[in-house]
Amino acid sequence: MGKFNDLELSQWREYTDIETDSLWIIDKRDNSGAHSGHYHGNFVPQIPHQLFSRYTKKGDWILDPFMGSGTSLIEAQRMGRNSIGIEIQHDVAKEAYDRIYTEKNDVVRTKVVVADSQTCDMNKILLSESINKVQFVIMHPPYWDIVKFSENPNDLSNCDSINEFLDSFGKVIDNSLSVLEKNRYCAVVIGDKYADKQVIPLGFYCMNLMMEKDLLLKAILVKNFGETKGKSNKQGIWRYRALASDFYIFKHEYIFIFKKVK
Ligand SMILES: C[S@@+](CC[C@H](N)C(=O)[O-])C[C@H]1O[C@@H](n2cnc3c(N)ncnc32)[C@H](O)[C@@H]1O
Repeated sequence: MGKFNDLELSQWREYTDIETDSLWIIDKRDNSGAHSGHYHGNFVPQIPHQLFSRYTKKGDWILDPFMGSGTSLIEAQRMGRNSIGIEIQHDVAKEAYDRIYTEKNDVVRTKVVVADSQTCDMNKILLSESINKVQFVIMHPPYWDIVKFSENPNDLSNCDSINEFLDSFGKVIDNSLSVLEKNRYCAVVIGDKYADKQVIPLGFYCMNLMMEKDLLLKAILVKNFGETKGKSNKQGIWRYRALASDFYIFKHEYIFIFKKVK
């Protein structure tokens, strides 16, 4: 198996902070330095940190086609990995760029692009950094319409139906995978949704979509999430509603890991 990380197996006992189990309980967000956690819909930096430790080497290039507040890019920069983040909203990308820059170092390159990841020319973006492949793709798309990120019709959170959402997400997958090096990895972070009195298993729909792209499914990770901004201070109400009805309160999301073998 080709080497795809920097782990020294002779020291495996020392890697106590690197996850190898499929259940991830992360209680506290890493809010250090440029990680601000202000962006509604961000993920905890520990997710990219863990994934980059297992699936990338120093000097690799990482692509995040749903950059948001730049959590992946900050983590990549800290870990000596180059990265490209694509974000459809100009003001969000600008704010992220400024914050990422506060931790800039000369060891790695970090590029922020404002574009629609469904249709942007990935080869051109990579060529501007004199590369033609990336070694890891991390995707944290909108969980369909749970959080409306913008008014832009090409923003995935504005899709009118689940099929439209999957179709749009499929375009981002195809576009991103076209520049992923063979035998390297891609991760999708996504949760489910509840609508019309039933669960919409967004996570599994997205997992199936990825599998249809001839990728090998390597892991289904379940990660806890604490209070979202929308539900903070409302725990009691939600618990009452659940007890009075027939549903369970979502407390987890998924991280799916795939390997590109073709
Ligand atoms: C779930 S958030 C990602 C958050 C990010 N992981 C963070 O920690 O801040 C999804 C992001 O994708 C962006 N987005 C939605 N549709 C997009 C598209 N077609 N191309 C690029 N970005 C898109 C949204 O504006 C939003 O910032």
